[in-house]
Amino acid sequence: MVSQKLSDLNKQHGGLKIDEVSLAQLVGGMRDVQCMLWETSELDANEGIRIRGYSITELREKLPKIPNGTEPLPEALFWLMLVDEIPTAEEARFVTDQWIRRSQIPEHVYKVIDSLPIETHPMTQFSIGITSMQTQSIFTRRHQEGMNKNEYWNATYEDTMNLLAKIPRVAAYIYRRTYHDGDHIKPDLTLDWAGNFAHMLGIKDPDFKRLMRLYLTIHADHEGGNASAHTCHLVGSTLADSYLSLSASMNALAGPLHGLANQEVVSWIYKMIEILGTDTPTDEQVAEYIKSTLAGGRVVPGYGHAVLRKPDPRFLVQKKFAEDYNIKSNLIDIVWQIFRVAPPILESTGKIKNPWPNVDAHSGAILVHYGLKEFNFYTVMFGVSRSLGVLAALCWSRALGLGLERPKSVSSEWLGNYVQSKTSPSKNGKKEQVS
Ligand SMILES: CC(C)(COP(=O)(O)OP(=O)(O)OC[C@H]1O[C@@H](n2cnc3c(N)ncnc32)[C@H](O)[C@@H]1OP(=O)(O)O)[C@@H](O)C(=O)NCCC(=O)NCCS
Repeated sequence: MVSQKLSDLNKQHGGLKIDEVSLAQLVGGMRDVQCMLWETSELDANEGIRIRGYSITELREKLPKIPNGTEPLPEALFWLMLVDEIPTAEEARFVTDQWIRRSQIPEHVYKVIDSLPIETHPMTQFSIGITSMQTQSIFTRRHQEGMNKNEYWNATYEDTMNLLAKIPRVAAYIYRRTYHDGDHIKPDLTLDWAGNFAHMLGIKDPDFKRLMRLYLTIHADHEGGNASAHTCHLVGSTLADSYLSLSASMNALAGPLHGLANQEVVSWIYKMIEILGTDTPTDEQVAEYIKSTLAGGRVVPGYGHAVLRKPDPRFLVQKKFAEDYNIKSNLIDIVWQIFRVAPPILESTGKIKNPWPNVDAHSGAILVHYGLKEFNFYTVMFGVSRSLGVLAALCWSRALGLGLERPKSVSSEWLGNYVQSKTSPSKNGKKEQVS
């Protein structure tokens, strides 16, 4: 068993150093410091994400689909993350059925969301909606009753399944409330998880259901160090239940440097169209716009990554989807044009480590094509998908009995003194070098 193996490793080799931390890493957001366990996926700087060893292309090909379907089922991805095996079509169907069975939302959740001003950002509504469902937590109830810690993973699994069953419905409720005068659409319980989400959003094109299956699969997991994953892990390490851990994770996703970038990409392109007065700009015009963004001390949204150093395979698979389904629009052309024009400009700054597009550079343009134009909602869609990965990982953290996170912090005064002590002349008159 994985947990036994981990405990043996810890007992026998607990003192083994697996990484070091430089001053630059401490100041610069702990980039690349290997200091957390995450079972479900691993990110390679050049290859991109592998979920349980499978690349994005392999997942699209190998995961079960609906009968005669073309795109992977997120339910199947969830099984893979949890069980470490690609499920059969029947096993994926089991997850779909479970989520249909558990999808009823307590009435008070709608009331809580409805009590918020209509202009509340959809991510704020989403986070509050998830928190308000915490009244249902099995983990918290059983913990108060004195649950044995060997049962933690099981109670977390139950909460996770209940929560994932409800997430698309809460998200669709927020969308219809905010942008369609509260004209809600009843779930279609004959559909799969992503298909039903597409249905409840109110977009009728069958290809949009296909897009949602792919979209909710590829945004799910990106190893443990990214802000939404790490936040879920950190909050979960306090034994906060799946609901509290996930809502915290969604608050991290709502930051512009993380999941909010997908809405920023579209608004940044629309701004360019408005300034230039055309939605078929020349390469020179796009280049000038990118340069003016950089000159204004702003980031080019959808470009760069803390770990990746090549075009994000999640960007490329969305481009492939648009090609496969013959999706054409001036907005998509601009996205591809930026893919051509931006990297050399970003590279020429000499400081941006990754001049290539990330997942957020493409998603909005396809959503606009299907009529989902309200870009303030995009991060909620990312969040529906990300819930799969962070909650599968939370189940594993509980199964492995991982401890409360509590890294050591230091003050800048301590840091200054430390550097001084390491660089001041030693007895033989030479300075000690800090590498
Ligand atoms: C994702 C991101 C936060 C990673 O940050 P990071 O790990 O610090 O990236 P780097 O090490 O390459 O950053 C080095 C410098 O380049 C800048 N940089 C990185 N990406 C940039 C971009 N897309 N546009 C402009 N500047 C960028 C950083 O702001 C930093 O500048 P500074 O030294 O003046 O502070 C960053 O690339 C970014 O802000 N991208 C745009 C937002 C986005 O798409 N987010 C979604 C990520 S999936």
